Amino acid sequence: MRIVSGIQPTGSLHLGNYLGAIRNWVRMQDDMDADSDCLFFLADLHAISMPHDPQTLHTGTLEMVAALTACGIDPDRSILFNQAQVSAHCELQWLLNGTARMGWLNRMTQFKDKAGKHREGASAALFTYPVLQAADVLLYQATHVPVGEDQKQHLELARDIATKFNFDFASEDKPVFTLPEPITPPEAARIMSLRDGTKKMSKSDPSDMSRINLSDDRDTIAKKVKKAKTDPEPLPSDLAGLEDRPEALNLVTIYGALADCSAEDVLAQYGGQGFGSFKPALAEVMVESLGPIVERFVELKEDRESLDAILARGALKAREIARPTLDKAYSALGLVRGH
Ligand code: TYM
Repeated sequence: MRIVSGIQPTGSLHLGNYLGAIRNWVRMQDDMDADSDCLFFLADLHAISMPHDPQTLHTGTLEMVAALTACGIDPDRSILFNQAQVSAHCELQWLLNGTARMGWLNRMTQFKDKAGKHREGASAALFTYPVLQAADVLLYQATHVPVGEDQKQHLELARDIATKFNFDFASEDKPVFTLPEPITPPEAARIMSLRDGTKKMSKSDPSDMSRINLSDDRDTIAKKVKKAKTDPEPLPSDLAGLEDRPEALNLVTIYGALADCSAEDVLAQYGGQGFGSFKPALAEVMVESLGPIVERFVELKEDRESLDAILARGALKAREIARPTLDKAYSALGLVRGH
């Protein structure tokens, strides 16, 4: 089993990233047996597909190493690195660009969302972004990719690219790429904005009140939960009563994910109560779960040398694992590279 996943180092880590993906990474790392390995990386190359400030990206990349370590990713057990230090990601992307079809990329909803109405002005990188994402996982023969719901479409594309490449350039008994499986936590696949229950919680939302950052202190968390959009009805006693109440459903989902119980269990406890009593309880669960992470993060992020060293060590290991697959892909395509 090989587990591979990535996160863009733009903005701070938020509750959606944590519950939708990172907590799963940590659990998979902790449950790993001797025949498995985990590779987790910062998708810094993906981050340049949108307008960005170089200094902020640089600092954000190192801080994301601190944040992931604070969440429980252990660089001694997992391979933690950034894409920019492993040139094989860019190389394989180019090779896969020959296989990916324009029609497939045209269907990607993330491109449509991020490019908005001004498609002509969007970067070419934003359009070919999913091909880099395919390279990220195929390069390592990933078998499992823990991601939130929003990344599933990109993973399906990676499988399509791998299937076509294997079909076009490899024999059936010796495929170049393994088909990766997405792994999504059912209880927290999609954490929504605190200001609008129909939009996902996101680093790019201009309102900081829409998300809980893993660097928020106790007071900020309490304030954001208190101001979270809700409706005037009390909580129902079963899930059916949350239909058409996206904000209420989101808060119940978050509570359940943090307290490690189902949404039904949360409603069994709080059904009939108003948000006046539910919100403080939710804020308390958040502070309890996130408090220790924030403390570790604040400490780790100051030690730039250690963060650099973690990335350098991770890159060395990642390059080693990537090399044979990259060589196979070049060779399958008939490219001459000497010996
Ligand atoms: P990114 O940086 O947007 O998010 C990192 C992870 O967090 C999950 N996530 C969420 N889950 C639940 N609710 C939310 N509101 C929420 N917001 C984010 C994402 O699904 C993701 O798992 N393209 C990717 C990074 C990437 C990648 C890869 C992932 C690049 N290459 C290869 C897996 C494999 C991205 O931008 O994730």
